[in-house]
Amino acid sequence: MPGLLLDTLRGKRGERVPLWLMRQAGRYLPEYRALRAEKGGFLELVYDSEAAAEVTMQPIDRFGFDGAILFSDILIVPYAMGQDLAFLAGEGPKLSPALVDTALASLEAVPGRLAPIYQTVRQVRARLSSETTLLGFAGSPWTVATYMVAGEGSRDQHAAREMAYRDPAAFQALIDAIVAVTAEYLAGQIEAGAEAVQLFDSWAGSLAPREFERWVIAPNAALTAAMAERFPGLPVIGFPKGSGEKLPAYARETGVAAVGVDETLDPAWVAHELPAGMAVQGNLDPLLLLAGGERLAGGARAILDAFADRPHVFNLGHGIGQHTPIAHVETLIETVRAWRG
Ligand code: CP3
Repeated sequence: MPGLLLDTLRGKRGERVPLWLMRQAGRYLPEYRALRAEKGGFLELVYDSEAAAEVTMQPIDRFGFDGAILFSDILIVPYAMGQDLAFLAGEGPKLSPALVDTALASLEAVPGRLAPIYQTVRQVRARLSSETTLLGFAGSPWTVATYMVAGEGSRDQHAAREMAYRDPAAFQALIDAIVAVTAEYLAGQIEAGAEAVQLFDSWAGSLAPREFERWVIAPNAALTAAMAERFPGLPVIGFPKGSGEKLPAYARETGVAAVGVDETLDPAWVAHELPAGMAVQGNLDPLLLLAGGERLAGGARAILDAFADRPHVFNLGHGIGQHTPIAHVETLIETVRAWRG
């Protein structure tokens, strides 16, 4: 029996709205912090499949979310393409050499860096009930490219945006290379048991409209086409964070089954603009969940009301913050489960 979340992504409205939270496995959970301290670091945790499967299960065991998202990171793809990857405390991720300093052709791919992730998916699948949907994921090519070019996170993604204007052929070659590895990576996750996949485009919002067409819509369309050919009917969730008024074009042109919506968009506008029947995921402000208080339940219900006429997966507009109190998450879950449209 497929789960409620999977049914919803395929376009059905069930008897209640399914719920999961981006970054639901992570530092706001004491059991995560304990296991991470034991393993020493984030990458050590990701590459220990048994521990990574345990981390994936932690929010399921605690809260009973409708979806489990593989515990890994979008930067595993550049790591497999041959960049070194480190997560330094307080500084965020570092990839080296950065492509502002080195040509893509000088990287030596290390495809073996992907296989342990599939092992995690298999272990999670074995532990999960059939009602809980197992989500795989990858970064979208544009967002991954912003990290590969700069070698780190950046406020406005200027290094990648500048490269895309200065040398579009070289940037296209980079995007194409990321698409190829990502298609393999997603296929490996699906073959290991992922039932749907999400493409995280965290920096989709920094591009001018024509650049958005070329570097966000086109590569995501290539990925959904590759998935549709190999895995017909498998839902792809696209999350073009910050896409604003470009969201409807993204929804129509990429071939995704569902769109993730960030908290800056009015759900009533989104509900009106998306193609009829398309599933939507979102979009509570993670800072409202952090703050809690009287506005939390009402804010969640306003989103549920706005999306009442289409398939809706409740989620945040971005990842849950590390200082979010567990009690606020419990209030949110009760509110979503109690709501009836
Ligand atoms: O959603 C989940 O629970 C699944 C796991 C997941 C992680 N990262 C685990 C993680 C997912 C889906 C991601 C996606 C990801 N990673 C994105 C896209 C979504 C977004 O948040 O915009 C991006 C941009 C990254 C790159 C990345 N990884 C950053 C910027 C950081 C933060 C660095 C820091 O120190 O805060 C990470 C690290 C990371 N990825 C953590 C987790 C739980 C924190 C690691 C830790 O324990 O210190």
